[in-house]
Amino acid sequence: MTKLIYYGHAAFRLETGERNILIDPFFTGNPLAPVSHEETEADYILVTHGHGDHVGDTVAIAKRTGAVAVSNAEICRWLGDQGVCTHSMHLGGGHQFPFGYVKMTMALHGSSMPDGSYGGNPGGFLLKLNKGQKIYFAGDTGLFGDMRLIGDEGLDLAVLPIGDNYTMGPEDAIKAFEFLHPGAVIPIHYDTFEGIRQDVGAWKTRVEENSKNHVWVMSPGDSVKI
Ligand code: NI
Ligand code: MN
Repeated sequence: MTKLIYYGHAAFRLETGERNILIDPFFTGNPLAPVSHEETEADYILVTHGHGDHVGDTVAIAKRTGAVAVSNAEICRWLGDQGVCTHSMHLGGGHQFPFGYVKMTMALHGSSMPDGSYGGNPGGFLLKLNKGQKIYFAGDTGLFGDMRLIGDEGLDLAVLPIGDNYTMGPEDAIKAFEFLHPGAVIPIHYDTFEGIRQDVGAWKTRVEENSKNHVWVMSPGDSVKI
């Protein structure tokens, strides 16, 4: 059984049964986080880009658990300098990990680190789990047409920002959903702070009006089986 737990904002834990994989583990300072970073486990930590609301507690969790951080080369250098074990990748490249194949995808965004140092290009992750599921974590991004190519993979699930202002808003996220045509979509990166508040219920209704695919609205602490 594969389980995905939502920690609010853009933070998740994916449990494949073989490994625990955290994505963008932002707990400290995340008003939506239902638990603290001490209360999660990880074998791998995927970091989409350098911003503080995505790097989050990567260093503390990796040091406590021995988890390997997976990100672009610049972020991995920054994490490595703080004693974190890393696996560095870059956009368009993939690697077979014990739980599945992970490919870094492009994202239209920025990536400076919390201390202002250079964080390389921002990204997302396409996961092809050993059990067969294909999951796309878009990261923070604006809409881009090459999402169609990612959709060609035949996605079971896409995790998309809808908050607007820093990322795609609801309108563009509907376009992204059309490009990606995943079996299900989880909207993220909204309601965490003032400025990214959205009516997620209205968005769900609009998407499901035009598609037989599903919108899974997750509250922080919720989990879904994939
Ligand atoms: Ni960001
Ligand atoms: Mn963000």
